[in-house]
Formats: sequence, structure tokens, C-alpha cells
Amino acid sequence: MALTNDVTALDGQNSSMFSVISVLQIFLLLLIPYLIVYRWTQRNKPGPKEWPLLGSAIEMTTNFERFQDWLLIYFAHAKTFTARLPTHYISYTVDPVVVEHILKNNFTNYPKGKNFHEIMEVVLGDGIFNTDGESWKRQRKTASFEFSSKVLREFSAVVFRDYALKLARIVSHAAYSKEAIEMQEMYMRLTLDSICKVGFGTELQILSPSLPDNPFANAFDHANATIMLRFVDPFWKAKKFLGIGREASIEKSSTTLDNFTYKIIRARRAEIKVARASGKANMKPDLLSRFMELSEDPENNMTDKTLRDIVLNFIIAGRDTTAATLSWFTYMMAIHPEIADKIYEELVDLEKRSMSKESANSTLTNLLDLDEESFNKRLQEFETHIDHEGLLKLPYLHAALTETLRVYPAIPLDIKGIAEDDVAPDGTVLKKGGLIGYSPYCMGRMEFIWGPDAREYKPERWLKNGVFYPESPFKFTAFQGGPRICLGKDSAYLQMKVTASLLFRFFKFNLVPGHKVVYRTMTALGMAHGLKVTITKRVH
Ligand code: HEM
Ligand SMILES: *[C@@H]1O[C@H](CO)[C@@H](O)[C@H](O)[C@H]1NC(C)=O
Ligand SMILES: *[C@@H]1O[C@H](CO)[C@@H](O)[C@H](O)[C@H]1NC(C)=O
Ligand SMILES: *[C@@H]1O[C@H](CO)[C@@H](O)[C@H](O)[C@H]1NC(C)=O
Ligand SMILES: *[C@@H]1O[C@H](CO)[C@@H](O)[C@H](O)[C@H]1NC(C)=O
Ligand SMILES: *[C@@H]1O[C@H](CO)[C@@H](O)[C@H](O)[C@H]1NC(C)=O
Repeated sequence: MALTNDVTALDGQNSSMFSVISVLQIFLLLLIPYLIVYRWTQRNKPGPKEWPLLGSAIEMTTNFERFQDWLLIYFAHAKTFTARLPTHYISYTVDPVVVEHILKNNFTNYPKGKNFHEIMEVVLGDGIFNTDGESWKRQRKTASFEFSSKVLREFSAVVFRDYALKLARIVSHAAYSKEAIEMQEMYMRLTLDSICKVGFGTELQILSPSLPDNPFANAFDHANATIMLRFVDPFWKAKKFLGIGREASIEKSSTTLDNFTYKIIRARRAEIKVARASGKANMKPDLLSRFMELSEDPENNMTDKTLRDIVLNFIIAGRDTTAATLSWFTYMMAIHPEIADKIYEELVDLEKRSMSKESANSTLTNLLDLDEESFNKRLQEFETHIDHEGLLKLPYLHAALTETLRVYPAIPLDIKGIAEDDVAPDGTVLKKGGLIGYSPYCMGRMEFIWGPDAREYKPERWLKNGVFYPESPFKFTAFQGGPRICLGKDSAYLQMKVTASLLFRFFKFNLVPGHKVVYRTMTALGMAHGLKVTITKRVH
């Protein structure tokens, strides 16, 4: 009764307001059962539940930080599941049969796609990483040829050694000064320095304990951080058009990258010209010079822009991935000292075998007695004694690095476009215009692939009687598989082995107490807070 009185007392405006509220109430009353029924129909659906219109977008965005672990929740119940987004479907899989289908058996139906190309174009241009079809095929052919060249391999080996030694001295200094050191930062500097040297023949010199600044390196990091945001920001194109936010500064970063690269290309052209005029064959061994040689053949149709794209693509492909893997490997060694000891023993063995009888005694020197200078000489001595062939063997180290990539794959999730409607071998419907991703990170944790100890770090799983046995690239997907398998795999192993052999022969790495190691969701699986460690020298 009182309520009716109140209502009649209200003026007209408020009563129409009131009827809006009632309509809203009725709508809500109907919406709730609608949603309940909507969700009820999904009770047996594998994968995240959906809302009308939005699909699973909210759940995916709110789980962005811990994305791989979010995927794992659903992979516990289904090897493949599909999530709906407002504009398209995205399927995720850990099933090696489906992975082989998209990466190999029906390769042409699963390109990188237009969206990826647009987002990455500012840095990657039309390089190998960012193209499909004919353009990709042509680049892949020349690049494979160059990568298998002896000249480049030998040059890289020298560069990797030089920088590994430089890093070992920095680590040695941390051991002597008893200061903590952030290894992920060091590895990122190591790999950028060395890949620029291999790629352009240029020294950036950013690997140093004083953490020097370099405009190229800064521009590189900045451009790429902005690009990552594009993957989650549906409004990036508008922002770019309006020139606001990070999108405004990406232009500047990309000009810095271009200027730097074109300057080197022009300088190299001039050098070649001078050398030719004086009758000297001046062929430098770096990647750029090798491609420049090819560019002189008009048949290859290479402009300066083509050369820029090639080199920047290699830097992007090889830099973060190698640095991230070295960081996770170092972390594994810190928390599994018994495995670090086995690697140490393998390295001492190799050293003994490689040295002549006279110098073999130095493997017995007590390292704790040496001052910093003599110790650094000892590092160098090790480096000069270890030959390339010996390094390539080291089956236990090889297994430990591979095991690191199995549990912490540098590219944790790889997403492909879908060109035409198709049905995956497991029956999953793949709709044209949608996306399909496989997760090497989650695959590494699947018991149906690796057995009940899937989540344990066990280099031994790769060895039989001390010999390394590789797995199918559709189960161990860290380097992808099929026609687009990573081109730099051997190069990456070489650098990681050269670096790890020096560091783990002479040092033990200890986590700084309280330092938390967690991954960060980026294209490359980095550590959110880096890897802070203290260093102790081995006794011998
Ligand atoms: C541990 C280190 C590395 C890992 C885990 C790794 C992993 C991968 C993966 C997963 C792909 C496929 C990406 C995709 O198509 O979506 C790829 C492609 C590629 N990688 Fe690596 N990579 C590593 C190091 C390197 C290095 C050091 C280089 C070269 C210097 C390199 C060069 C390339 C190139 C050129 C491609 C593109 C191949 C193509 O599209 O045909 N990678 N890599
Ligand atoms: C890309 O940006 C992220 C985020 O800032 C950074 O952590 C990463 O090291 C960058 N990668 C490269 C290749 O510079
Ligand atoms: C790049 O080079 C152009 C022309 O040489 C110059 O005008 C511009 O300021 C440079 N930009 C950057 C960011 O270095
Ligand atoms: C060379 O490449 C340019 C641009 O990529 C293209 O327009 C041109 O037709 C090509 N020329 C030949 C001979 O392939
Ligand atoms: C190596 O060490 C052994 C035992 O300590 C010693 O007898 C031998 O003379 C040493 N050889 C050289 C070349 O120093
Ligand atoms: C590959 O995909 C196409 C759709 O583009 C489909 O028609 C074809 O059957 C698939 N082939 C295989 C081998 O699955």
C-alpha cells in the first residue's frame, strides 16, 4: 500500500524513469534464465565457456598474464578445443597428429596470415618471417643455402666464442666481487651483440656490466614491445592513424632501425666497390655480405629494402629465442645442481681429451687459489683448447639444452591462419578465416606424449646408452616442424653450447634467495623479473 502511494506521489519524469527500470528488470529477469540455458547447452563443450556476442574473449584477456597455464586447464580434458571470439574462432591443440597436419600435411592451408603480416610489417617488412607463398619460398631457398655455407658457419663459431668469453669474464668478475648478477639481461645483450656481428659484421658492444645504451638496441626493444601490444589491442590501427600512444613513437623507432641498417648496407656497397677497383676480392663472411653478393645478380631482384628485411628478420628470429633458452637453462642448472655436476664432468672430460699431455695438468689446478687475472687466463685457455667437433658432440649438454626447450620452449605458442575450411584428423572443424594454434609449452607437459614424468626436468630422457636421440618435431615442437622448421636451429645449438660450456665448466649458479622466477607472456618466453643469481667458482 505504502509503495503505491509513493509511486503516485512521484512526478512524471520519475515515473517514466521508473518504467525504464521495470523494463530493465524484466530484461534482466529474462536474461538470467537465457544465460543459464546458454551455459547449460555448453556443459559438455571442451574449452572455455562462452557468453553471447563476446564468446570467450573476457576469459582469454583476463588470463593473458598466465596464458599457458590457462590453456593447460583445458588441455587436461581435451587435446584440441575451440574458443569463440567476437569476430572469429580460434582452436588450440596439443595433439601431435593435428600439429603434423597443419605444419606439414596441409601446410599451404595454414599460412601466417594477413593479420600477422600487418602487425609485424613495421619491423619485419617482407622478410622470411613475415611472408607466405611464393615470396616466402624464394627467401627460404636462398636462406637455407646461405645457412648451410661453411663460411658463415665458421664465422659464427668465432663470433660465438669471442662473446662467450666476454660474458664469462663478466660472470667471473661477479664471482670475485660476490655481487649478484641478472643473467637474462646479460644473455639478451650477448645474443644481440653476436647476431649483429654475424648478421652485419657490426659491433654494437652492449654486452658489458655497465649496461651501455645503444640507439639501435633501444629502438629494437621499443618497436617490438609496441608490436606485442598490437596483438591484444584491437584499436591499434586507429591509434596508429591518429598517431597516439606508443603507436606514435613506433615510427621513430622504425626509422632508427632503418637508418642504422641502410647506413651499413651503403657502407658495405662502397667497400665492395673500392675492393673491386683495386682488384681485391673483398668478401666478408657476415650474412649481409653474403646476401649482397646474391643481390648483384639481377635475377634475384634484391633492393636495399629486401636486404634490410632479411637481416632484421634474422635478428628477431634468433635473438630473444636463444637468450630465453640460455636463461631457462641457467635456471634449471641452479635448481638441479646434480645435473649441473654431470654437465661439468662431461666438459672436464672433453677438455682432458682435447688437451695435449703437458697442458692437461691445468685441469687439476685449484681454481679457488687463482686471482682474477689468472682465472681469466684459464677461461681463455679452455676456449682455445676446445675444438668445434668436440663441442658439437657433448651429448649430455645437448640433451640438457633440448630438455630445457621441451619444458620452456622459447616460442610457447604458435598461431596459424586458416585459408580454407578444413577438418583436422581428429575431427575438429577448422573454419576459413579462423586461427589454429599449437602450444609447445603445454605439449611439453602432456603425459600422453612424454609419459608420467612429463613435468620433470630429465635430460636422460633424450639419451640411450649415452647417445642423443631426437624426437619427432611434431611432438617436440620448440623449433616448429615441416617446411617452415626453424632455419637457425643448428646455429642456436652452437651458440648455446659454446656459451654454456664455458660458463658451466667453471661456475655454479645460485638463485638469489627470494627471487621469483616466473614467465612473461610475450612471443618469446622470457622471465618476468629476470634471473638474479650469485656465482661460485668450481674448485677445479
Ligand atoms: C633456441 C633458439 C631458437 C628457437 C627455439 C627457435 C624457434 C623457431 C620457431 C618456433 C620458428 C617458427 C616460427 C613460425 O613460423 O611461426 C622459427 C623460425 C625461424 N627461425 Fe628460429 N629459433 C631459434 C633460434 C634461431 C636462430 C639463432 C636463428 C637465426 C639466426 C633462427 C632463424 C629462424 C628463421 C629464419 C625462421 C623462419 C623460417 C621460415 O619461416 O621459413 N632461429 N624458429
Ligand atoms: C621485445 O619487447 C619485450 C617487452 O619490452 C622485451 O622484453 C623483449 O626483450 C623484446 N625483444 C627484442 C627482440 O628486443
Ligand atoms: C633517419 O635519417 C633521415 C635522413 O637521413 C633523417 O632525416 C632522420 O632524422 C633520421 N631519423 C632517425 C630517427 O635517426
Ligand atoms: C622486382 O621486385 C619489384 C618489387 O618487389 C617488382 O615490382 C618487380 O616486378 C620485380 N622485377 C622482376 C624482374 O622480378
Ligand atoms: C703433471 O702432473 C704430474 C702429477 O702432478 C707431474 O708428475 C707431471 O710432471 C706434470 N706434467 C707437466 C707437463 O707439468
Ligand atoms: C587440406 O585443406 C583443404 C582445404 O584447403 C582440404 O580441401 C583438403 O582436403 C585438405 N587436405 C588434406 C590432406 O587434409
